[in-house]
Amino acid sequence: MNALHRDLKHLVPLVEGLGAAQAAADPHRQRLHIQPPVGWLNDPNGLCRVGDTYHVFYQYGPFDPTSGVKHWGHVTSTDLLHWQRQPVALYPDEPFDCHGAYSGSALYEDGVLWLFYTGNVKLPGDYDHITAGRENNLCLATSRDCITIDTKECLLHTAEYPAGLSCHVRDPKVWLQDGTYYMVLGARTLEDRGEVLVFASEDKRQWRHINTITTPEPFGYMWECPDLFELDGQWFLLVSPQGIPCQNVYGCGYFPLYGDFRGAYTLGEYRPLDGGFDYYAPQSFTDGDRRLQFGWMGMPDAPYVNPTLAYGWQNCLTFPRQLRREGDILLQSPAVELKALRGAPAALAAGSRLEVSPCFELAAAPEGSFSLTVAEGLTFSYDEASRTVLLRFTDPAAGAGRDQRTLTLDAPCRSVQVLADASSLEIFLNEGAVVFTTRYYPQPGPVSLRLEGASGTVWPLSL
Ligand code: FRU
Repeated sequence: MNALHRDLKHLVPLVEGLGAAQAAADPHRQRLHIQPPVGWLNDPNGLCRVGDTYHVFYQYGPFDPTSGVKHWGHVTSTDLLHWQRQPVALYPDEPFDCHGAYSGSALYEDGVLWLFYTGNVKLPGDYDHITAGRENNLCLATSRDCITIDTKECLLHTAEYPAGLSCHVRDPKVWLQDGTYYMVLGARTLEDRGEVLVFASEDKRQWRHINTITTPEPFGYMWECPDLFELDGQWFLLVSPQGIPCQNVYGCGYFPLYGDFRGAYTLGEYRPLDGGFDYYAPQSFTDGDRRLQFGWMGMPDAPYVNPTLAYGWQNCLTFPRQLRREGDILLQSPAVELKALRGAPAALAAGSRLEVSPCFELAAAPEGSFSLTVAEGLTFSYDEASRTVLLRFTDPAAGAGRDQRTLTLDAPCRSVQVLADASSLEIFLNEGAVVFTTRYYPQPGPVSLRLEGASGTVWPLSL
């Protein structure tokens, strides 16, 4: 254990203890979502299930609610609902990761948890830190008890990546397939093109570059947090592309991938994974027979804010979502475990108003245009003629800088499921073919709902 590790291991719990009461006093503190005890959270990392325990790690800045040097926070659960805080797993405490233990993924094998991540290092000097002056090293940490890290090492230095790349090469997602380990890394080329590098390994330590996946025409300058998996016979590549035209600062979406990711492939049509304000850098894993996904309920460099900052913390993950597919379309829906949180259902008749707990689930099966007003602060509406949905904040305080987002659906909207927590809404349309995810900041206390053009059922949710 080096001295920096020892000091950080001592300091983080102190800082968490100092900020705990302030964070707990926040009326917008989430109840059903994974959030940092204090400070900043971004991407989900290292998602896996070991025995009956789910492990979720996340990018964590304990010292700075506006970001800071990234650690890996860690929570565990046996039901995807109740999360237990674990000690920080990865500290930025080695020369190869000293400016951030950036995003990555997990593999559990032979009684060992293997965590692959990016070691971020910003070299001192007059650099742009894009084409020069930055290391994004491929790092490996191992743990036998899945809580305490036993070893940390650098597997590939930035200089060892293929030629033609900028210093931005990161976010390893690793999986085992037919006896070979595969890894995808997100990359930005020196010509400012986003792409995904595919590597293979026989031993999890020696990695060779075997392919590069990108679009025929440039599509953004950087692809962050790639995820590549087969779902029910179809491959999908998920990326968070930067520099594409979209409503948010950065994109987050997927391509169906035809052919072989190791050789000749074609990417199908890109689709956004979310139409809301706060969704980025999702990661998925299988827990046996289903593929689950968490996303970061946030957006880098967004012009809007989170008033939770005044209470010393910021951001959360999405509720776990199960992925399914319908043809080339990915469907996202809240993990079925959510149903265990439902209290007594209440009917929400068309045109009526209901006061509910801030944590609620709403389900409706509209047959035409409808609009849902939540907390007199935002309206979610669907217009059948144009098949357009519009999420619009009517109360600036509830939006904290968020204004409106819109999408046009491929098919008429026939199902709506809303999952609300104290300061977030996740709205699933057409069985999750289209999702809107947003933070929102209603007045503390019960939340009013008004549904026009459709009727629904509302359940209060509690742990
Ligand atoms: C995405 C990202 C990743 C990086 C991490 C750093 O939000 O920028 O590319 O590994 O966040 O926190």
